[in-house]
Amino acid sequence: MKAWTLGSPGDGLRLEEVTDPAVRSGGAVLRMLAVQVPAYTRMLTTGGRGGMATPTVLGIGGIGRVEAVADDVHTVRLGEIALCTGFLGTGRVAEPEEVLLGWTGIGGRGTSSAATDAMRRVWRNGTFAERALVPASTLVALPGAEQYPDLARLAFLPWLSVAAGAVERSALAPGDRVVVTGASGQLGGATVLLALARGAGRIAAVGRNARNLERLAALDPRVRVVGSVGSRAADGAAILQALDAEADVVIDALGPAPTADLSMAGFDVLRTDGTMVLLGGVRQVLPIPYDELMHRCITLRGSWMASNETAYAVWRQVEAGLLDLSALDVTIPGLDDPDAVLAQAEVTNGLGFVSLLP
Ligand SMILES: NC(=O)c1ccc[n+]([C@@H]2O[C@H](COP(=O)([O-])OP(=O)(O)OC[C@H]3O[C@@H](n4cnc5c(N)ncnc54)[C@H](OP(=O)(O)O)[C@@H]3O)[C@@H](O)[C@H]2O)c1
Repeated sequence: MKAWTLGSPGDGLRLEEVTDPAVRSGGAVLRMLAVQVPAYTRMLTTGGRGGMATPTVLGIGGIGRVEAVADDVHTVRLGEIALCTGFLGTGRVAEPEEVLLGWTGIGGRGTSSAATDAMRRVWRNGTFAERALVPASTLVALPGAEQYPDLARLAFLPWLSVAAGAVERSALAPGDRVVVTGASGQLGGATVLLALARGAGRIAAVGRNARNLERLAALDPRVRVVGSVGSRAADGAAILQALDAEADVVIDALGPAPTADLSMAGFDVLRTDGTMVLLGGVRQVLPIPYDELMHRCITLRGSWMASNETAYAVWRQVEAGLLDLSALDVTIPGLDDPDAVLAQAEVTNGLGFVSLLP
């Protein structure tokens, strides 16, 4: 089969003929139908996003048709369409550990262990390929997906699931006033879609890219966009004005910003008893005063990846039309030219993404 392989970080991604993966105990083989190529994929191939197991077929998650299922696997059935999350846990309840397959990323404190090394050694099949052998626990059957008119759009399901994980952890209730910082990004845009589907009353979508913010504003009158000016006080004031009140929920989906100011503007506008969820890639220390967190009874929590149940719930929302993927701007390349596809992916942002059709 054809696949994109990475020899080691910095080697560049290569289109190669590799042996078709054979099904084995604990796994299933998917014929990959649509796989998102995240904007930062090129950087990841250079080692700029942390270590990963190489050599490997690269690629995390995606949509595929089940071509072979091991005798001991019952999460998916032969012939159906399934989502692969690429998110593998040890299953050990005490001291859980998680890794991303075909990608960088280790859960918890981010440190590798004998267990995470072994998981990445045994399951070394990324999804930028015609076929992928993946462990059963990373698969979510999508009953009804055969009828979905545009499978390429479903490649965004893993990303939407990550955003949905944060929305669930925020306990967003219908009618809530919500702030999404970094809303003009891919994860932030996904978060806005999920918050709308969950019945948010008003959403302050905060970012810098005016075009992406405009697209969010066009989604629904509940979305009020706020162009960040890079000042904690001014951004906070603009958010309060957009919401017309303090926020029940703040979801921070910012990329690696040089200061914590915009994240802290989100913190500043939370109401007493509000919840702030950190979802993005900010690498700053948040200066949160103990007494404020305490007196305002704020819940502050992180959110990494999402459960299979969350991913399935996202599919149900798509199927029901609550989550309208027609808002996405999709570029649909094939496997032939990895370099060109990474270049296409690099310029995607907001509600735009690259859906590789292997
Ligand atoms: N928690 C998880 O499970 C999980 C999973 C995947 C990714 N992530 C993390 O999520 C982060 C966001 O991902 P993404 O793909 O959405 O990235 P992205 O498309 O680059 O979006 C980043 C967002 O941050 C904003 N931003 C960046 N620097 C800023 C600054 N200095 N001031 C104000 N805004 C700034 C961008 O604004 P403009 O575009 O408007 O300039 C954009 O809205 C990544 O860093 C990634 O590490 C987390």
